[in-house]
Amino acid sequence: MLINNKKNILITGSSQGIGLTIAKFFAQKYNIYITGRYEDKLKKLCDENNFAGYCAIDLSKPKSAQRLLSLLNIDIDILINNAGNYIYSPVEMLENEDIVSSFMLNSISALELIKLVTPYMKKQQWGRIINIGSISGIMGEANASLYSMTKASLVGMTKALALELAQNGITVNIINPGWVDTELINNENLEQDFSKDEIIETIPQRRFVTPEEIAQSCEFLISDKAKSITGQSINICAGLSLGY
Ligand SMILES: NC(=O)c1ccc[n+]([C@@H]2O[C@H](COP(=O)([O-])OP(=O)(O)OC[C@H]3O[C@@H](n4cnc5c(N)ncnc54)[C@H](OP(=O)(O)O)[C@@H]3O)[C@@H](O)[C@H]2O)c1
Repeated sequence: MLINNKKNILITGSSQGIGLTIAKFFAQKYNIYITGRYEDKLKKLCDENNFAGYCAIDLSKPKSAQRLLSLLNIDIDILINNAGNYIYSPVEMLENEDIVSSFMLNSISALELIKLVTPYMKKQQWGRIINIGSISGIMGEANASLYSMTKASLVGMTKALALELAQNGITVNIINPGWVDTELINNENLEQDFSKDEIIETIPQRRFVTPEEIAQSCEFLISDKAKSITGQSINICAGLSLGY
């Protein structure tokens, strides 16, 4: 059901960074539902930005996708699977719990959410699903095997679902950002190996991608102009995927 004739967008991991930028970008045009783990932070953001609702939930935990959608209790027209964490670690130092929980957060919860939102989208014969992957899922990144694995899995899932849902007016795409200067990369292990200036030296355009650029691409993919674009893996990376 549409409130105020606006479509409902659920953006996971929207308490900060890329997800929050996308939420603010779409706030006038859509009913925005945000998520993260911390209730107080989400409530404040919701009040300040006039978002339609929020849900505090840890998406690395089993059954969290079902809980999220039953707590929100709305029909989702547009799903942006953006929540994620970045574990930068040599393979032999990876913690087994991190392997399971990062895969759950970055990959499995996205599929589970899609499973739950597609019946309504099929009924409407319209829907938009955007997964936020990473350049690390497209090309190799040393010390990011777990992260790369979780993000690469989203690419395969995107293509398969795009085919499966093609006759239902639903498009499924994945955006793979390069380096974006958010909390995600304020990572102790990464900082020991690279300063931000050193990271920039590896980027062909010698700059970080901005969260606004990711939001603009989401805007296009959601629009009618992009209705023929489905199953695509779109690198927004300032040239990083080309090598250096
Ligand atoms: N920044 C980059 O360079 C970059 C590059 C490529 C891809 N990406 C991808 O872009 C997406 C957004 O990243 P970002 O840079 O905006 O990162 P960020 O600033 O760290 O934001 C991550 C978001 O995910 C949420 N989140 C983290 N762990 C969670 C959990 N266990 N359960 C539920 N929510 C959780 C966080 O919410 P709370 O902490 O409030 O719970 C936050 O809203 C991620 O999927 C990331 O992999 C980022």
